[in-house]
Amino acid sequence: MEEKELGLTLKAAGINSLFNILKIDKSDRFSLLRFARIIGISLKKLNYYENSKKMPSGVDLEKICEATGLSPTQIMLKLGIIDYNLKTLIENNSEKVFRIVESQINKEKPKASLPPPMAYESKSGTLYQGDCLELMPHIDSDSIDLIFADPPFNLNKIYPSNIDDNLKSDQYIKWCEEWAKQCIRILKPGGSIFVWNLPKWNTFMAAYLNTQLTFRHWISVDIKYSLPIRGRLYPSHYALLYYCKGEKPAKFHPDRLPMSVCPHCFGDLKDYGGYKDKMNPNGINMSDVWLDIPPVRHKKYKKRNGANELSVKLLDRIIEMSTDEGDTVFDPFGGSGTTYAVSEIKNRKWIGIEIGPVEDIINRFKNIEDDAENLNQIRKGINSLFPEKTLQRRIKNGLWTPESVNRKKQKYSTKSNY
Ligand SMILES: C[S@@+](CC[C@H](N)C(=O)[O-])C[C@H]1O[C@@H](n2cnc3c(N)ncnc32)[C@H](O)[C@@H]1O
Repeated sequence: MEEKELGLTLKAAGINSLFNILKIDKSDRFSLLRFARIIGISLKKLNYYENSKKMPSGVDLEKICEATGLSPTQIMLKLGIIDYNLKTLIENNSEKVFRIVESQINKEKPKASLPPPMAYESKSGTLYQGDCLELMPHIDSDSIDLIFADPPFNLNKIYPSNIDDNLKSDQYIKWCEEWAKQCIRILKPGGSIFVWNLPKWNTFMAAYLNTQLTFRHWISVDIKYSLPIRGRLYPSHYALLYYCKGEKPAKFHPDRLPMSVCPHCFGDLKDYGGYKDKMNPNGINMSDVWLDIPPVRHKKYKKRNGANELSVKLLDRIIEMSTDEGDTVFDPFGGSGTTYAVSEIKNRKWIGIEIGPVEDIINRFKNIEDDAENLNQIRKGINSLFPEKTLQRRIKNGLWTPESVNRKKQKYSTKSNY
């Protein structure tokens, strides 16, 4: 199916709603209540379907079909919901569908002929100030090795840029798809893209990225971001989507992580039994659950006022995993410039965009040695089963180390040779 056809379908999803289909005026509470009574579905439930744009199911769907004379497929289409069955039908009839919708397809805006002026230039990168949707069309197709995107989460937060962070769900998802579409265009074949968001939004993002990229991982990053909410599980992870363009990523060299130990006695937290000698002294394989990424809350590490700043440890891990020195990293949502600072320190080229004030990013680069030192300390703690401090404490406390396990093994095999 063509992209433009998809674009139209998605736009339509924002226009129709259950109340439109049922031809009821949602501002007229009296008619609504009467309708709810006649149809036999509570007003609360009708409002839920209306506001969430979810397809009704079960008995509710049967009642709605009976009241409207529409089939479930017609209701689905009117709500802009495309399941696998409908998708196949559209694919098989793409010419006919295209002829019907051709005249209504949004014409893509031609990009402005002049590229925007840059806000800052470092040894390895360039920062632009402006709206990423307007600036990204100036970036060449297939030119970026790694994209990291950490958009606003639509949580009604106040940003220095005064952007609207309280869009309707449909509008937010549509906006995300617009910048993601540009990201996909500029990503090199074999390039990687990581999208950081709340799990709720990344379910929609994944559905969109699945249409054009190859899924690699849904990484859960264990950070608590709200207080416990009544009637819900305690939200404790951010979702980090990892996709690549084409069949597999051109670069993939994840770091190895240290074994988790007790912070007090440095002893094992898990029983490794007879497998200690099989453990790689360079560390443990990275999994898709990251438990060691700190939130940036301490004033000492904060590069701008307010929340939303990510840890250099996170960006270091992503950049290390999916790029080599000299590769180009792009981040459309600059914030405090974490991606740009880490890219600079790691000798990657970078391109950045931030719609709001960029002074914090520029100031960050004036003191980039702070980030470099922080990163240096972080990297000392990885690619080894026990980083130096842990190793010394384990030796002191008489706990096993790869060397002690090896010595024991050799002693045993020498004995058994006699
Ligand atoms: C969640 S923050 C990014 C934080 C960043 N990852 C960091 O570690 O500092 C999102 C940023 O995107 C910016 N932003 C929002 N809409 C934008 C747009 N359309 N174009 C460019 N930047 C935008 C906001 O001003 C905000 O600074």
